[in-house]
Amino acid sequence: MTGVDFSSSALASAASLAKHLSLDGTWVETDVLDARAAVTGDFDLVYTSIGTINWLPDLDRWATQITGLLRAGGTFYIRDGHPVLYGLDEHADGLHMRYPYFNTGHAQVWDEETTYAGNGTVEHPRTYQWAHPLSDILNSLIKAGLQILRVDEGTTLPWKFSPRMVQVPDGFAWPETERDLVPCTYTIIARKL
Ligand SMILES: C[S@@+](CC[C@H](N)C(=O)[O-])C[C@H]1O[C@@H](n2cnc3c(N)ncnc32)[C@H](O)[C@@H]1O
Repeated sequence: MTGVDFSSSALASAASLAKHLSLDGTWVETDVLDARAAVTGDFDLVYTSIGTINWLPDLDRWATQITGLLRAGGTFYIRDGHPVLYGLDEHADGLHMRYPYFNTGHAQVWDEETTYAGNGTVEHPRTYQWAHPLSDILNSLIKAGLQILRVDEGTTLPWKFSPRMVQVPDGFAWPETERDLVPCTYTIIARKL
């Protein structure tokens, strides 16, 4: 198992979790957009999940890293927040689209002092995020040489996106009367040809 992140503290957390589970791992500090060059070897599985590609301006380059890291016949799996969810106003009293679903080419700038990773505040609160519609995500993977095997959409999340979300057995979801109206997550399974 090899883990990639450009945050040394995120890698230290991953290493400590792996040790707790008695798993061996190699931890590589790099921008994920340079992962192929930074990581040694190739892999049967590339896995990425929750809060991943919204930080990336360039999905074609991201998808090229994935195919570069996979062996022929290897599997790519992603589960992440749905781009429709990211368009919603988390503070509205109903389901209101506020942010672009499509990539405008410009970053959305957020100043958020709190973090889902713990209590307290962060020293550098500014983040930049890019909207990626489902079509752009799928087309970047196809263009990089992956065959899409399955796409699913889900109605629960592992974090509370909005104060209006309620706790459910596997995380958080919109109130029951709204649960079937919008997707919260998507998963894609793809294979390197
Ligand atoms: C929201 S967290 C998600 C982490 C994990 N998937 C989880 O569910 O807790 C995003 C992670 O992506 C990392 N990250 C963001 N942009 C990156 C990039 N360009 N290259 C490498 N890591 C990046 C951050 O350092 C952070 O650890």
